[in-house]
Amino acid sequence: MTSPISIFDLRGKAAFISGASSGIGQHTARMLAKAGAAVALAARRTDRLDAVVAELRSERHKACAVRLDVTDPSTIEPAWREAEHQLGQPIDILFNNAGVIYIERFTSQSYEAVSRIFDTNLKGAFMVAQEAARHMSTHGQGSIINIASSSGLRAGGQMSSYGASKAALIHLTQIMALELARKGVRVNALAPGNIQTDMQAEFTERGIEDGIMKRIPMRRFGEPSDLDGATLLLASDAGRYMTGAVIPVDGGQVLSWM
Ligand SMILES: NC(=O)c1ccc[n+]([C@@H]2O[C@H](COP(=O)([O-])OP(=O)(O)OC[C@H]3O[C@@H](n4cnc5c(N)ncnc54)[C@H](OP(=O)(O)O)[C@@H]3O)[C@@H](O)[C@H]2O)c1
Repeated sequence: MTSPISIFDLRGKAAFISGASSGIGQHTARMLAKAGAAVALAARRTDRLDAVVAELRSERHKACAVRLDVTDPSTIEPAWREAEHQLGQPIDILFNNAGVIYIERFTSQSYEAVSRIFDTNLKGAFMVAQEAARHMSTHGQGSIINIASSSGLRAGGQMSSYGASKAALIHLTQIMALELARKGVRVNALAPGNIQTDMQAEFTERGIEDGIMKRIPMRRFGEPSDLDGATLLLASDAGRYMTGAVIPVDGGQVLSWM
């Protein structure tokens, strides 16, 4: 009898990870490779991607690096095509993760900074997911995982553009799930709480970490590896009847209001 955990096995599948040059994306690229998937790491800082790809290849994983700027649509289709070419197979999984943060009071948010947030977190994620969906639809299978945020599920001070971009990404996830279900493409979102990455430095610099910690029932910030279980569930056949789901991975943060 086969083990019930074999449904999480990603051997034979290929994953495209945007924002794989640091933090959650870099960790997840390594994790998906170790779960058996061929992985394409995408971001602007290709020197960082190359270093991880070299490490994964030395461990006999199939991996490649492709340059991607999600705010420049002319880079998206070539990055996807190059990834499929280098991996030598169609991509089954998109970890749609590239994102930026901006913490500032609503009345002080500049047009330029607001544009950067929406261009990256919403328009960028939209266009990468669209590219993925077109390819996956022709193959009749795929799993798209949009990386939203607990900030998209509830209001947080000084997070107006960031929170609105992530709330819109959650709504987009649900519409994509509706439209793509009959094409064999599942679309779900993860809503992480505060995860310790470079992004977290923004909270540290502003001295608001302690206030945030008091609102996390589990009383610790997350690590990128805390997302592994939910990511594997959505990426693999274990999540085959799931689409349109939004999964908080936040130590209970989204439940807490005081
Ligand atoms: N850390 C948290 O507490 C937290 C909580 C909830 C949600 N999230 C979300 O998780 C995702 C990853 O964040 P992180 O914490 O891992 O932050 P991070 O370490 O700063 O990583 C952000 C990644 O996004 C990439 N990126 C940014 N702009 C890009 C662009 N225009 N084109 C392509 N890639 C771009 C960066 O790569 P390059 O600069 O090399 O392009 C980098 O790899 C983001 O969507 C974030 O909103 C994070």
